[in-house]
Amino acid sequence: MLFSCAVERGRHGCVYRAHCARHGFGLEAAFLSETRVFVGFIGLLRAEFDAPFTPAVEIGWRLLPEFWGRGFAPEGARAALEMGFADLALEEIVSFTARVNTASIRVLEKLGMRHSAKDDFNHPALADDDRLRAYVLYRIRAEEFYRQTPITGASDEHD
Ligand SMILES: CC(C)(COP(=O)(O)OP(=O)(O)OC[C@H]1O[C@@H](n2cnc3c(N)ncnc32)[C@H](O)[C@@H]1OP(=O)(O)O)[C@@H](O)C(=O)NCCC(=O)NCCS
Repeated sequence: MLFSCAVERGRHGCVYRAHCARHGFGLEAAFLSETRVFVGFIGLLRAEFDAPFTPAVEIGWRLLPEFWGRGFAPEGARAALEMGFADLALEEIVSFTARVNTASIRVLEKLGMRHSAKDDFNHPALADDDRLRAYVLYRIRAEEFYRQTPITGASDEHD
């Protein structure tokens, strides 16, 4: 990969300002380190809708299509996971996506997140006949993350 993805926190602020004001973290703008070109949003969010695994903190992403396939989502997501475990002292972070979203599921697998079929659910905000209603849930605990990712000492390295 030629460029790395910098998850900008303090300087560029959170996209979901109300969420950020309430929780101190949120979905954040991501830029290429070298050119400062904006590529999309990656970050942590509180999941508080009614589901067996909530309340929880989830990791999510949405990149501009021209930046897909370059590994930026896994790279930015790893930085966000490190921030969640190191700075926020979370014990577990989840992620969920529609079962048909194979690109995001690949990212979850690259992050070493675990899938258990018993966690899968129908999204409560979607209609019964919506093809996106069937969701898969993935989890990762702090100890699992650190088994695969050496401790660098700070998510500040990504600033
Ligand atoms: C999901 C998404 C973040 C992937 O990010 P990324 O930085 O491209 O991730 P990667 O480069 O690691 O690619 C992951 C997978 O995406 C798929 N992919 C890659 N380029 C793609 C493209 N141009 N079009 C469609 N899928 C593509 C491949 O299956 C790839 O897996 P592989 O590396 O084993 O081939 C990106 O597709 C996206 O932002 N999609 C729209 C928003 C979205 O789905 N958000 C998640 C909602 S839960």
